Amino acid sequence: MKLPGITRRDFVRLGAGAAALAGAEGSRAGAAIKSTLLKAPELAAQTAQSGRKIRFVSIGTGIRGCDLLRAAKLAPAGICVGAADLYAMRHKAAQEAYGAEFATTRDYRELLDRKDVDAVIIATPDHQHKRITLDAIAAGKDVYCEKPMSHSVADGFAMAEAVQAGKRIFQAGSQRVSSILYAKAREIYASGRLGEVHSIDARWNRNTPGGAWIYPIPPDAGPATVDWEAFLRDAPPRPFDALRFFRWRMFADYGEGLGGDLFVHLLSGIQVITGINTVASRAYSSGGLYHFKDGRDFPDQIETVYDYPDAANGGLQVHLHCNQNNDDGDEGLSFFGSTGTLAVTGRTVTFTPQETTPRFEAYGWGGMTEAQRKQGLEEWRAAHPQQQPALARTLAESFALPQGYNDTAEHIANFFRAVETREHVVEDEIFGNHAAIGCHLANYSYFHRAIATWDPASQSIKG
Ligand SMILES: NC(=O)c1ccc[n+]([C@@H]2O[C@H](COP(=O)([O-])OP(=O)(O)OC[C@H]3O[C@@H](n4cnc5c(N)ncnc54)[C@H](O)[C@@H]3O)[C@@H](O)[C@H]2O)c1
Repeated sequence: MKLPGITRRDFVRLGAGAAALAGAEGSRAGAAIKSTLLKAPELAAQTAQSGRKIRFVSIGTGIRGCDLLRAAKLAPAGICVGAADLYAMRHKAAQEAYGAEFATTRDYRELLDRKDVDAVIIATPDHQHKRITLDAIAAGKDVYCEKPMSHSVADGFAMAEAVQAGKRIFQAGSQRVSSILYAKAREIYASGRLGEVHSIDARWNRNTPGGAWIYPIPPDAGPATVDWEAFLRDAPPRPFDALRFFRWRMFADYGEGLGGDLFVHLLSGIQVITGINTVASRAYSSGGLYHFKDGRDFPDQIETVYDYPDAANGGLQVHLHCNQNNDDGDEGLSFFGSTGTLAVTGRTVTFTPQETTPRFEAYGWGGMTEAQRKQGLEEWRAAHPQQQPALARTLAESFALPQGYNDTAEHIANFFRAVETREHVVEDEIFGNHAAIGCHLANYSYFHRAIATWDPASQSIKG
């Protein structure tokens, strides 16, 4: 589906960087566009009010764990004082990513035993999120846990209960919810300018081997360099398999496929922009494994239609789709309202008003006589003396992220602030659990070839 707003490609085509758009007025498909560059807050200035840094450790320092450490460098309220990973080389990778030396270990429990540690960042495969979160909370630490929060519906509720019983701060890791871009989208949505919204379409498409989780397997990977036994905690036993260790997203024992990888970002975005923090009442998925027939468990193309019980608006349909075989339209969310459309891409938010000026709709008069049509037009003009029959020119508004903006650093800074102030984070255990359940609903429907219904009373999915 073509985005009604500016796509990332349009944005690049329109000018050499976002600065070229700032304050400018362009024109696209008959609608004038007023474009504004958003201003990023100064994270470097946000040190802890007490002057004391939040001391955190990183558990899981693979691709994302290293990314988080690079981003954490930009959020000076915290300082990394240790890291745990099951693969030896990732201890060094973590130190390189953060640009400092700290204690490293294979066994994260050694870090949790330390009294000088306030918080943990968990970036392990999803099947380990529950165990490590529960251990961290038992040790009195606050937790930033990568998305999707849970590997199963039961895991998510166990984690949320533990967070609340332990009175800990918990932030799930869908960093876009902390982005200034999503804050702008939320502001526009909340202003009511979209009118009634009953339809949301969101997509994330890729077309590269890396986009299909075909990640490098280092030649030294083996039982001597990898703690395979620890990796298999909370997963079925099997002999060492480097492919499963480094490409775990392909397998249902450890990940949730496109649902856990990408749907969760889209659902978190929808939750934060609309303020609808709940679980869909039902979901239906279709798709298939069309290209990457390499032994993986998950489809490389999936579409899911959700029905949400949006009490304020009388119902909402959400359509998500992800593709690993064509990246057209890459990442985007569109909110279709009766008086406007909000389109969010990776770097822009665009609001385009719907043309709702009353006009003489000649089409319906096509089967009448000329005399009837003439009379109809005269009556319409008499009833609408102020109205122009032609479409008015609409003014779309677009907002773009500044170059170099890092929403992960923003999300981590939000977590550090909450650890210090004990105030709410943007993506707490309830929010994160709801978004993760959306992935589980999608996968349930795909694998059972049935509509997945959410049963709030039993907190479970019914067929
Ligand atoms: N927010 C985002 O945009 C984003 C992007 C990528 C990944 N993620 C999430 O981050 C998490 C990690 O993904 P990744 O791509 O970095 O995977 P990865 O395989 O590159 O890294 C995971 C690391 O966790 C380590 N690990 C596993 N179990 C462990 C344990 N018990 N103790 C210590 N270390 C352990 C592994 O050794 C590995 O190095 C996943 O939950 C994923 O969904 C989020």
